Amino acid sequence: MMNLEKKHIDRIRELVHSYSGIILERVATRNIDKKIQSQMKHFGMIKPDDYILILEEYEHDNKAMDELIAELTVSESYFFRNPDQFEYIVESLLPELYQHSNWKIPARTWSAGCSRGEEAYSLAMTMLHFQQENPKARFSINAGDINSKNLGAAREAVYNKRSLREKLPLFEKQFGLKLGERNENGDCTVSDEIKSLVTLQKLNLKNVRGLNCLAGSDIVFCRNVLIYFDEQLRTQLAEKFYQCLNPGGVVFLGESECFSGISNLFELVSYKKCYAYRKPLGIR
Ligand SMILES: C[S@@+](CC[C@H](N)C(=O)[O-])C[C@H]1O[C@@H](n2cnc3c(N)ncnc32)[C@H](O)[C@@H]1O
Repeated sequence: MMNLEKKHIDRIRELVHSYSGIILERVATRNIDKKIQSQMKHFGMIKPDDYILILEEYEHDNKAMDELIAELTVSESYFFRNPDQFEYIVESLLPELYQHSNWKIPARTWSAGCSRGEEAYSLAMTMLHFQQENPKARFSINAGDINSKNLGAAREAVYNKRSLREKLPLFEKQFGLKLGERNENGDCTVSDEIKSLVTLQKLNLKNVRGLNCLAGSDIVFCRNVLIYFDEQLRTQLAEKFYQCLNPGGVVFLGESECFSGISNLFELVSYKKCYAYRKPLGIR
């Protein structure tokens, strides 16, 4: 196989950015060239220029680009990450939203950049718990990611200790709900009941115009994804989320992310150790 030169890596960096918005250095600093070479081998490519040609044909969907992004990105996630956000949903946000609509409108929720599904199934447990306490509450949960391997894992919904960590048992106890059955290694398979609450789909946040699927949302999780993007895309996404949210709806970001400096449309709500970006009630 021919060696990768700087010009090849630079071109691939450009293509990844233009397809996904991802700034390569923010997701993978080590072994970029080895990872690219392993993808070239996988697609039977000897010359970097030939591999670049198949990456260039992406338009809206491209298996080679998809697999390269899966290879290059780290998709760290776990259940009930930022636990105060889930507590805020149950204790404050949902009671207010449902009362505002007189319990008539189903809450529409999204996990955008859902990784292997931990976030979406945490949300499913949260919404189900709320419904058990408030039978009139109806809801839907959608989840999407650019990485098809992650979506495959989310569909399989089997998690090891790394994903389960310490917060899940606390929420299981508090909600009186089990995520699913554990095997002897401690791996957990999500129950069919919880799995059936989540609709998974491919989602590319770079395609901002294609994000109309988020329209009418009350809750959008987009956590630990914006860190990969440049300011221009983050600004466009903040605006798009705002347009797509129902009045009173919120966006949750990751702990190290914020909209300050890129959008002043939202009200900043603070609850314990978390923040939420809220579209004011009363705005259409
Ligand atoms: C670090 S994980 C965060 C997972 C989860 N949101 C959390 O906070 O635990 C980042 C996820 O964003 C996804 N991602 C990166 N760029 C994306 C894009 N352009 N569109 C959709 N998802 C993207 C990655 O595939 C990965 O699964």
